[in-house]
Amino acid sequence: IGSLVLWGFTGKLQSSSFRLVCYYNSLAENRKGDGKFTISDVDPNQCTHLIYAFADINDVNELVPSNATDLQHYQSFNGLKTRNPQLKTLLAVGGLTFKTEKFSMMVSTQRNRTTFIQSVITLLRNYGFDGLNLDWRYPRRARSRPEDKQKFTLLCKELKDAFVAEGTKTHRDRLMVTASVSAEKAVIDASYEVAQIAMNLDFINVLTFDFHGCWENVTGHHSPLYQGSKDKGDKIYSNTDYAMRYWRDQGAPTQKLNLGLAAYGRAFTLSSASTDVGAPVSGPGEDGCYTEKDGFWAYYETCLYLEGVTVQLITDQSVPYATTENQWVGFDDKDSLDRKVSYLKKNNIGGITVWSLDLDDFTGQFCKQGKTPIINHLHSLLDSGFPNNKITPIPPKTSKINKSGETIGEPCNGKSNGIHANPDDSNSFYQCANETATIQYCPEGLIFKESCKCCDWPTTAISTTTTTTTTNTSGRPIRGPCSGKTNGVYPHPNDSNSFYNCANGVAFIQYYQPGLIFKESCKCCDWPTTAISTTTTTTTTPKHNKPTGGPCIGKCDGVYLNPNDSNSFYNCANGVTFIQFCHPGLIFKESCRCCDWP
Ligand SMILES: *[C@@H]1O[C@H](CO)[C@@H](O)[C@H](O)[C@H]1NC(C)=O
Ligand SMILES: *[C@@H]1O[C@H](CO)[C@@H](O)[C@H](O)[C@H]1NC(C)=O
Ligand SMILES: *[C@@H]1O[C@H](CO)[C@@H](O)[C@H](O)[C@H]1NC(C)=O
Repeated sequence: IGSLVLWGFTGKLQSSSFRLVCYYNSLAENRKGDGKFTISDVDPNQCTHLIYAFADINDVNELVPSNATDLQHYQSFNGLKTRNPQLKTLLAVGGLTFKTEKFSMMVSTQRNRTTFIQSVITLLRNYGFDGLNLDWRYPRRARSRPEDKQKFTLLCKELKDAFVAEGTKTHRDRLMVTASVSAEKAVIDASYEVAQIAMNLDFINVLTFDFHGCWENVTGHHSPLYQGSKDKGDKIYSNTDYAMRYWRDQGAPTQKLNLGLAAYGRAFTLSSASTDVGAPVSGPGEDGCYTEKDGFWAYYETCLYLEGVTVQLITDQSVPYATTENQWVGFDDKDSLDRKVSYLKKNNIGGITVWSLDLDDFTGQFCKQGKTPIINHLHSLLDSGFPNNKITPIPPKTSKINKSGETIGEPCNGKSNGIHANPDDSNSFYQCANETATIQYCPEGLIFKESCKCCDWPTTAISTTTTTTTTNTSGRPIRGPCSGKTNGVYPHPNDSNSFYNCANGVAFIQYYQPGLIFKESCKCCDWPTTAISTTTTTTTTPKHNKPTGGPCIGKCDGVYLNPNDSNSFYNCANGVTFIQFCHPGLIFKESCRCCDWP
């Protein structure tokens, strides 16, 4: 995001230049053999944003998972953020095969939209997503209603307003609202009030691919950068350059636009000896061996076909193609990605969106260019502003003097009101109010994370030097205590104060607050609960005949202020008092019945 500067996780000043928005296609999990791609194959440190595709809309206009198993996957997906706290995740609704009538019905009335929006907030928050991606393809395509163009604008605006209100009310970062949109002029004209939607969207993925394909009777590159010299009539609009300029000229700020890239090629079967662009074809190309759709080749499947084949450049359109026997494929390679990224930088476009992670050579075995060559290459070209050191060491457990209330001025200059990381100390953060800074401390052992604007447990890779390394069937090294374990958390046998978080066989050690205990039942750390001694208070026998005493007598079940100690509170159950403690440094507040900063 151009000039936006982020404080890096390591406290170093980082500049986040561009967005690299990557789609995760959940259906790729069902592919066979080496084509199978799951969340554990996602490297959380390559893209700035990950989009989970796709969620569904039910009969009563609520956002719902497409599949019962998705809920579990949402958790693993958002769990990737523990390995890169700067990563943002979005949930996409819609997609190419989605029944667009569901969108039409949902946007049709204020009431239906409100139902949808409330369900969006609930689902995103419950599973830890940072935002929504609208993938309505497209508001005025087949089976839409005439008013859908205006209704889509209303949807974007009401989503944004509701997200702002929810963020303010809950003191959390506002959820993002984004959309993936058509790159075809006719569809843009019919479907979008560009300037209005751009105002309310955090970013817009322009899907600058699939301009040509097997539905046509001649060869053509599906994602050309520029107009072809032979393009005539409406064909002059069918290229990346035209689409990006058109979105800009209709009123979308270029910084909000993401240029769409496809990690796949589109193939044709040639029907003559001619192999040029515009050569006659008899139909789509063969299917890729793994993705199994006619004329659709994942980048890695392209490599399978093109071993030993010379790649040609379509000079005017600045993209490559290749022919092998009677197959013709147009795709993107590193050189054309270089040119598309140069184009993006020259035109001040905010980022890139890629469909999709599973189509890259994620195992590295097909293209011999290392693992995930496309995403890797884009990441390096975009300099996405990721910190080099993703793993934060546990801060030393020194006792801190609580300096809460100290005003130090300078760090809040030019900053919005709210909380901001302290670049010099991960254990503390600044509360800024009208450019006045108050320094506050996280509970001991926790660190401030910019992603959630909260204090959280640090995550550290376990030293693997003293453990043996084995290799599993997929060739990935599995080391240390997570070897052979399914993903999840496990007690640390040698340290009751920590536990293992196992992800894809790799162990991360995580610490919890001294005084908490690890409970196998919930696989979580929790406060120990102690019954209050009632010896010094009078004991009465209430109606339900259970002996009770102390401060909970006559009180409804719930939590209450402890008038003698602001750091603890009473938990009343059936008139019995349990005393519980807030994190050190926090106090119990009657207003929210919660532990909060003083
Ligand atoms: C609003 O949603 C309901 C389903 O809950 C649907 O029956 C109704 O037709 C929708 N309204 C319009 C105008 O489409
Ligand atoms: C739902 O998940 C199951 C198990 O992963 C899978 O076999 C099935 O194809 C999925 N269905 C859809 C519609 O994604
Ligand atoms: C392709 O179809 C168009 C009409 O859609 C026709 O004019 C043209 O001759 C066809 N070209 C070939 C090579 O079949």
